Amino acid sequence: MCGIVGAIAQRNVTGILLEGLKRLEYRGYDSAGIAVLDRASGAIACTRRSGKVAELENALAAEPLDGTIGIAHTRWATHGKPEERNAHPHVASSRIAVVHNGIIENFEQLKADLQAKGHQFASDTDTEVIAHLVYDQLQQGVAFPAAVKATIAQLHGAYALAIMDREQPGLLMAARMGSPLVLGVGIGEHFIASDPLALLQVTDQFIYLDEGDLAEVTLDGVVVRDRAGETASHPVQRFEHGQDAADKGEYRHYMLKEIYEQPAVVEAVLEGRLGSDKVYEEAFGAEARAVFDRVKAVQIIACGTSYHAGLIAKYWIEELVGIPCQVEVASEYRYRKTVALPDSLFVTISQSGETADTLAALREAKESGFLACLTICNVPGSSLVRESDLALMTNAGPEIGVASTKAFTSQLVALLLTTLVLGRRHGLDPAVESELVGCLRGLPALFTQVLALDEPIKALSEQFADKNHSLFLGRGAMYPVAMEGALKLKEISYIHAEAYPAGELKHGPLALVDKEMPVIVVAPNNSLLEKLKANMQEVSARGGELFVFADKDAGMVAEEGLQLLPVPESHTLLDPLVYTLPLQLLSYHVAVLKGTDVDQPRNLAKSVTVE
Ligand code: F6R
Repeated sequence: MCGIVGAIAQRNVTGILLEGLKRLEYRGYDSAGIAVLDRASGAIACTRRSGKVAELENALAAEPLDGTIGIAHTRWATHGKPEERNAHPHVASSRIAVVHNGIIENFEQLKADLQAKGHQFASDTDTEVIAHLVYDQLQQGVAFPAAVKATIAQLHGAYALAIMDREQPGLLMAARMGSPLVLGVGIGEHFIASDPLALLQVTDQFIYLDEGDLAEVTLDGVVVRDRAGETASHPVQRFEHGQDAADKGEYRHYMLKEIYEQPAVVEAVLEGRLGSDKVYEEAFGAEARAVFDRVKAVQIIACGTSYHAGLIAKYWIEELVGIPCQVEVASEYRYRKTVALPDSLFVTISQSGETADTLAALREAKESGFLACLTICNVPGSSLVRESDLALMTNAGPEIGVASTKAFTSQLVALLLTTLVLGRRHGLDPAVESELVGCLRGLPALFTQVLALDEPIKALSEQFADKNHSLFLGRGAMYPVAMEGALKLKEISYIHAEAYPAGELKHGPLALVDKEMPVIVVAPNNSLLEKLKANMQEVSARGGELFVFADKDAGMVAEEGLQLLPVPESHTLLDPLVYTLPLQLLSYHVAVLKGTDVDQPRNLAKSVTVE
């Protein structure tokens, strides 16, 4: 998704802006650009390129920019093709330069009005109207900050904005509504970004803007006003993640690095949240106890991988807590008439905390009679965290690979903690809680054992690289694990992958099975194992090739048409976590063999902040 960086300093800011764009690359984009006020002439100097930030970097190496104030952007096309002329910054009458994340819903009407007044447009974007609206105000004698304020009052939709005026070389304006934006605080220099990660090379001090905020950013400081125009005093917060989070280190790809970080991530999710035999409910916030005391049902909402985490949690909640749990994708939920069960807890799950559909569903839910809203989220200060009553941070650290790995397992751990806290109120045997707390403590070591399967999985992956289709099977809570495995394979290797609850095979998908379609099965030694084995027979009988990830005690043997990969044994309830890692590794190695862009798969973006 789009990324914004802005800077005002006493030095040339081009390098800072470029580095910021590189750090935002993981979000997905199709073009990039930078505008500065040229130090020599005072004019706006703007360089834009379609494609990778490296293209922009090459252009800047050939023709460097030099300015102490500037804005920059990586674009993910929404209005207009991914071409240079649609790349940001957009400049009106050589005076106003704008970068924008989000969508302006009424841009066509605004554009028509501006064109009627004689404004000439150079792009197909919604963003360009913003530059012209500000310029239009300036022409009417309005000062720059007031011109921005009057402009955003006309915008319907979502935006994060950084705006520069050629005639105000000491001032950047920033505005936020529906799309995240932070201000970075330095010594005698200040910054703007859509994600703090973009600025970690220059500061770790951030001010998180609220919806409706408008900020004046100068060398000496920032002034933030809320939507009522009152001065807002947001605290300066220290960014907590390590500075090296955006560094691949010894790994070839961020995805592999993040797969390998999972033992440490589990420790981070558990840190400070476990007593000797129980989960501390205080971890969920001051009001948690009063809320949890009343919960009689759970509604989970999320998208993509986070949705799969929710599906697994449903099995846990209904089994251990014994209350109804419904799970739905946010993009469906937000647009239908829904009924909240009495005393129902609304739970959102999100890595980024900014997913537009999930956020919209939360906003709907707040009007729909839920008891309270809890978010399971990885980004402190994100919109979901700020707008929910309760939040449990997953502490996975920034996830750069577009395909979610460590964020998913951290969500699962957080959801298991939530299940245990709720279970306690619904008669869950304290011995069971204590046993699971012990298992959670052992999970980092178990994950390390599972990661040792990397080499055999790599060898296995060679049999997938020439395939076009695949089927993933699981039963019970392992069905959503199969769904997540299929999603990982399709998004990074572009192999068509479908997941089915294995019992459904005979109701249709069996017709697809032949030698060319690998069938991947997740088969822990649980109460459904015998049923699953019968389903595997259905595949074998039709000449299908089975690739089975199974417990060594599952009593399976490798044979013609059945390849076996033994997975370390764990508590049944932890199997979804343990079996996820081999499937992540399988997708990764298949993608590497196929030579795809593992960290930035085609057509995808990391943080989906538009609908
Ligand atoms: C897939 C993936 C996506 C996200 C989805 C929701 O690997 O990462 O499916 O899970 O876009 O994003 P968040 O969790 O940020 O709400």
